[in-house]
Amino acid sequence: SEHRPLRIILAGPPASGKGTQAALLVERYGLVHISTGDMLRAAVEAGSELGLAAKKYMDAGELVPDELVIGLMQQRMAAPDVQTSGWLLDGFPRTAAQIVAMDAAGIEPDLVISLDVPFEILKERVSGRRLDPETGRIYHLRFDPPPASDKALLDRLIQRSDDDVQKLAVRFENYRENVDALRQRYGAIMAEIDGRRSKEQVFENITRAVGMLRMRRSWQMKRS
Ligand code: AP5
Repeated sequence: SEHRPLRIILAGPPASGKGTQAALLVERYGLVHISTGDMLRAAVEAGSELGLAAKKYMDAGELVPDELVIGLMQQRMAAPDVQTSGWLLDGFPRTAAQIVAMDAAGIEPDLVISLDVPFEILKERVSGRRLDPETGRIYHLRFDPPPASDKALLDRLIQRSDDDVQKLAVRFENYRENVDALRQRYGAIMAEIDGRRSKEQVFENITRAVGMLRMRRSWQMKRS
């Protein structure tokens, strides 16, 4: 039906709001959130073999080698929850090789959401970002501040090791080098969203794109 599981890729430069929008999308549509960044950070935290291999790249703001990330994804995408609930891929695929791996595995999105945010704004977002390691909730000291009354939360908030302006520049450059590959492969199903607006406005525009996708699907159903 038009309500068969949604399969969405969320793309955009570093700190453009992918994780923030992913949390909202998961809540609204019940999708399985698959973030390669989160999975890699968990591997680093756990000190696994993958984590040890990935850490030096991540700390420097560089991309982790394709074969490591692709292996991680293939494992995750094979799990049953992903098949039944639909998925939201956050931060993958990011390179031409990763796109090729998606195609080879027959993994096809319905919609690719690309957040557009200029570098100057990314700088502000990256420097104020804080993460609650317990819940994974993302905050921003100015734009989405943690509740000042919750002292335990304030004490445990962390700043990511790659969140400074120099590493942001490296990450942004990697993004720019790879964005054309995504546009070439998924241009026909890509919704480019202005990510400079508030979290709520960006989410509204994303849900509009999802609504249009569902409408198209239901027309196609009626015609067939
Ligand atoms: P990853 O974790 O994917 O990092 P990223 O792409 O740099 O994205 P971020 O997580 O930094 O930002 P975001 O877009 O989720 O923004 P957020 O919502 O937090 O990857 C990290 C590293 O892992 C990579 O550098 C690489 O080493 C490795 N890696 C991951 N995937 C890989 C892959 N496929 N291949 C190879 N290597 C890979 O928002 C940012 C801040 O802004 C927050 O503070 C938030 O509160 C605030 N904010 C959000 N939206 C708004 C808004 N609308 N208005 C104001 N503030 C806002």
